[in-house]
Amino acid sequence: MKKTVLVSGGAGFIGSHVTVELLEAGYDVVVADNFSNCDHSGYEGVKKITGREDLPLVEMDFCDAAAVKALFAKYPIDAVIHFAAFKAVGESVEKPLMYYKNNLVSFMNVLEAAQEKGGVNVLFSSSATVYGEPDAVPVTEATPRKPATSPYGNTKTMCEDILQDTVKASGGKLRGILLRYFTPIGAHPSALIGELPRGVPNNLVPFITQTAIGKRECLNVFGNDYPTPDGTCQRDFIDIVDLARAHVFAVTRMIKGEMKQPCEVFNVGTGRPLSVMELVNAFEKVNGVKVPHKFAPRRAGDITAIWADPTKANTEMGWKATRTIEETLKAAWAWECHLAGK
Ligand code: UD1
Repeated sequence: MKKTVLVSGGAGFIGSHVTVELLEAGYDVVVADNFSNCDHSGYEGVKKITGREDLPLVEMDFCDAAAVKALFAKYPIDAVIHFAAFKAVGESVEKPLMYYKNNLVSFMNVLEAAQEKGGVNVLFSSSATVYGEPDAVPVTEATPRKPATSPYGNTKTMCEDILQDTVKASGGKLRGILLRYFTPIGAHPSALIGELPRGVPNNLVPFITQTAIGKRECLNVFGNDYPTPDGTCQRDFIDIVDLARAHVFAVTRMIKGEMKQPCEVFNVGTGRPLSVMELVNAFEKVNGVKVPHKFAPRRAGDITAIWADPTKANTEMGWKATRTIEETLKAAWAWECHLAGK
C-alpha cells in the first residue's frame, strides 16, 4: 500500500524539492504551508514537474494546535517531514521571541498530534548550525554540538532535543530522524522550482544569481581575512536535489523499520569544502557571466569553515550526493533566468 508523507512547509524552497522526490519515489504527499515566506509558485511547479494535479494542499499555520490535530485526523499520515519554520539568522537576533515561539510551538504541535495518533515517523530538518564553530573539520554526527550563534540556530538545537526526548518517552510509538543540512543551493534541473528569497537575499547563491542578472549591483564577500586558504569562509554547498533525495532515504528507512536507534542523526553534506571565492569563480566560469563583487567586513555570527563527514549517511542510509558543483551552479543560474523570463 502507498504510504503518505505530510510535508509541513512543503511549498517552500526545500519542501517543494522534497515533495517532488517523494512523489517520484512513489509516496503520496500532503503539502501544508501557511505561505508566510513563499507564494504558490513552488506548489504549482511541483505539480507541473510531477504531473500530479491532485496534490493535496492544506493552507494552515502549524502554531494552531487544533488545525494540526485536524490534519492528522483527516489524512492517513505515515511520516511527517517538518520544515515549517522561520530561517533568517539576522532577523532571529532582532526578534528572538518570534523565532522561539514559531519554531518551537509548531514543532511541538506536530509531535503532540503524531504521538496521539501513534505509529508516525518524524523527520526534523536540522542544520549544521548546531555544531557552532567546530574545533575540527570535517564534522561527524559525534562531533559535539556547540552553542548556536543565533536564536534561529538555538531553535534547531532545541527541536533536536525535543524530538530525542519525545521519541524516547513514546514507548515505541514514535520514530525520528534528524537531518543536519549543510548549505543547500541550486534549483531543480527543470528550472520550474527554486529558491525565491523575499527582498534582499541573506544567502550567498541567490545573491550571486541576482547580481549576475543585474538585480543587484555588487556582491559583498563577507570577510577575506579568515584563516582559510584564500581568506574567505569555507562551506559544504550541497545541491538541493541531492539534499531532497536524502529525505526519501530517511523516510523509507523509518517506514521500513531499518533504524538502529529510535531517533537517529545524519549529516547531509557532500564532504567537499569550497570557499566563498571558489564558489563565485566556479559560477562565473560555468555560466559564462560576471559577478561583480568586492570584499566587505565579516558577517556577525559566521563560522570560519565547516563541512560534513557524510560517511554515516553514505553507508547506513545508502544515500550519497552525486551532483557536481558545475551542475548545481548551472541549475541555480537557469532558475534565475527563468524568473527573469529569459
Ligand atoms: C546560513 C546560516 C545557517 C542557515 C543557512 C540557511 C549563518 C552563520 N548560518 O548558512 O544557520 O541554516 O544560512 O538559511 O548565518 N556570504 C557572502 N555574501 C553574501 C551572502 C553570504 O559573502 O551576500 C558568505 C557568508 O559570509 C558565508 C557563505 O557566504 O561565509 C555562505 O553563506 P550563506 O549562504 O548565508 O550560508 P551559511 O552561512 O552556510
